[in-house]
Amino acid sequence: MNVCFVGCGNIAQAMIDGLLSNGISTSSIACIERNQRKVELLKEKNLEVIELDSLAKENFDLVILAVKPKDALSAEKNIFQAAPNSKILTVVAGIELNKYSNPNSVIRSMPNTSSAFGKGITALYANDHSSKEFNFASDLFKKIGHVFVLKNEREMHAFTSIIGSGQAFLFEVLRIYLDELEKIASDNADVIEIFKDFVTSLGDSFSDEPDFETLINKIKSPGGTTQAGLESLEKNHMESIFKQAFRAAKDRSIEISNEQ
Ligand SMILES: NC(=O)c1ccc[n+]([C@@H]2O[C@H](COP(=O)([O-])OP(=O)(O)OC[C@H]3O[C@@H](n4cnc5c(N)ncnc54)[C@H](OP(=O)(O)O)[C@@H]3O)[C@@H](O)[C@H]2O)c1
Repeated sequence: MNVCFVGCGNIAQAMIDGLLSNGISTSSIACIERNQRKVELLKEKNLEVIELDSLAKENFDLVILAVKPKDALSAEKNIFQAAPNSKILTVVAGIELNKYSNPNSVIRSMPNTSSAFGKGITALYANDHSSKEFNFASDLFKKIGHVFVLKNEREMHAFTSIIGSGQAFLFEVLRIYLDELEKIASDNADVIEIFKDFVTSLGDSFSDEPDFETLINKIKSPGGTTQAGLESLEKNHMESIFKQAFRAAKDRSIEISNEQ
């Protein structure tokens, strides 16, 4: 495997960390990054940082486009100008294949930052699912988590909302919980360490009993405190609030695709 990331911010770093922890060597990964602070971080990880002009010489299996949507189409053109035979794997939200100058040489994906721990979820789509590059992209993401291959590109908007953004919504709920825990914890307690154990235990509980109703019923008793809290969540339409957030993220993904 021989890949080059163009744009090495949050999601590229998560993917790189996952790949390095799962048997891929630093010599198989190159980076093109314009932000000098990030360049220093990449060099600290012993990653090679190259210039766009060197793309053609190195003959990468995939060039992974990981820049913000506003930068994506110009970056794609520059990649094909520098190395016309490139196969691009884009992680950019919203931008549909037909917006790229060479859609048949672009594979779309939507990963999430759990890729850093080998536990990512990635949605994958291309015009040709049987190409060597598509299989290569699928294998790459399988090294850092789970892969959904989409039959229809329109599905990518929902996956962007649930996979790409949804994690942040769950972090927001956990942030509220941590705030409350900090308010009641004694001054000398290491609340962050306690909270980390607690968050791990949530995953452990679900692994042990993958059914939320059963898990909730183990905590709730009729007329008790948990039931009072859950009824308050229901009265305040928590489920609808969450679903609206997913809808807003999906709508924004559609909007981004129309903006380009
Ligand atoms: N973050 C996530 O969890 C996540 C998940 C799934 C998909 N995505 C998608 O991934 C993309 C990147 O998101 P991110 O959060 O990783 O962004 P980010 O942290 O801002 O990283 C992008 C990096 O690319 C650099 N860059 C932009 N254009 C460049 C170019 N032409 N050549 C070299 N470097 C360039 C940027 O430099 P500057 O700082 O100078 O702009 C920045 O350092 C977005 O399109 C997003 O939709 C993100």
